[in-house]
Amino acid sequence: MLDAIWPRSASLATDGALHLAGCDARELARTYGTPLFVVDEDDVRSRAAEYRAAYDDAEHPFEVFFAGKAFLITAIARWVHEAGLGIDVASGGELAVALRAGVPGDRIVMHGNNKSVAEIEAALDHRLRAIVCDSLDELARISAVAALREVVAPVMLRLTVGVEAHTHEAIATAHEDQKFGLSIADGSAARAVTLALGDPRLHLLGFHSHIGSQIFDAAGFEIAAHRVVAFMAEMARAHGFTPEALDLGGGMGIRYVEDDDPLDPAEMARRLRAIVVHECAEAGIPVPHLSVEPGRAIVGPSTVTLYEVGVVKDVQVDEQHHRQYVAVDGGMSDNIRTALYDAQYTAALANRTSSAPTTASRIVGKHCESGDIVVRDLAFPDDVHAGDLVAVAATGAYCYPMASNYNALPRPAVVGVRDSVARLLVRRETLDDLMARDLG
Ligand SMILES: Cc1ncc(COP(=O)(O)O)c(C=O)c1O
Repeated sequence: MLDAIWPRSASLATDGALHLAGCDARELARTYGTPLFVVDEDDVRSRAAEYRAAYDDAEHPFEVFFAGKAFLITAIARWVHEAGLGIDVASGGELAVALRAGVPGDRIVMHGNNKSVAEIEAALDHRLRAIVCDSLDELARISAVAALREVVAPVMLRLTVGVEAHTHEAIATAHEDQKFGLSIADGSAARAVTLALGDPRLHLLGFHSHIGSQIFDAAGFEIAAHRVVAFMAEMARAHGFTPEALDLGGGMGIRYVEDDDPLDPAEMARRLRAIVVHECAEAGIPVPHLSVEPGRAIVGPSTVTLYEVGVVKDVQVDEQHHRQYVAVDGGMSDNIRTALYDAQYTAALANRTSSAPTTASRIVGKHCESGDIVVRDLAFPDDVHAGDLVAVAATGAYCYPMASNYNALPRPAVVGVRDSVARLLVRRETLDDLMARDLG
């Protein structure tokens, strides 16, 4: 067993090779090529089940929806569904994947800040649990599509509560200036409630709030819940409206590097429940049906990206320092997070053990950008060489779904591992796939 950054089934063989669910990384690389996403199926299944159990409660259970944007392929949609989770989709494409996996419409909610008419039609036709409405324009669009379909659309309103995760109440309003949601502060949210309640084509189920990602404690949720519940109380006074549903979004953090210290899911669940129950009691309103939408926390730790090293270069940083640049056969096309928001990762040699001293290193990709960095700062053995395999941990969230064809690189394959058996879940893209869409 390796530490909590790596998938639960990860272990090191005596010769130093990384094993995932009993599958040897060298064998996986030989069979499926690199770069390769390797997903520990039982890791995903067990985290999904743990989240479901953590948020369950006799009196005030939370329903858990997996935020599919983190990593949505048919197999993963099926695993989390089998573990009892619903799915939040952010596009018609994600909806198609969830439906293909056999997830019924009433276990799916649809998000997005600019849903197309076709996406709204699909949401209504498949009788999704809710469409989470993000703007006044969209409210009108949902109503128009529902009228044409002669149905009533179940909607929730995504509220902008002015809370920035990790931050303090005093500067929380800074986060009004972003594209998502209906602002409580500027009156858009109240206007949306009035419009929705007066529209026979809309069934207003309740409210939604999502405050950010990679959050380690409950403080931001506390401020958000306080503001959402205050808004609910205001709407109860103004319209006699009691929401059926309240979703507190996702954002539960995971461990990428040793310093990361997220709250245990059961403790986070306990705190969120206590906050909502307390706020509702203070406001004198009933506790609605509760839900959360973790994405990263369900799939992030389950996956490792395997790369092959091609070039190692020693670069003089300044008079005192040098850095070992380890170039691998992927990069920002399979993991944009480091370039996009300075994400941190942990990596290790996956094909052998090394007793060589470690040196300040950077794992970089093969793309034509100096910002093409996979792991910005790490200590890595100074005997790493071409042909070695490098494993980067915790790449299960927002890597594969954000993959691109930059520099015309075919996107990697995804392999699931369980009980010493590997199964191809998504085949590697080929140059023929790329050429097929380019009509010359
Ligand atoms: C509305 C909504 N819900 C849930 C999530 C999932 O967040 P995370 O993967 O950090 O849990 C996101 C992420 O962007 C989101 O926008």
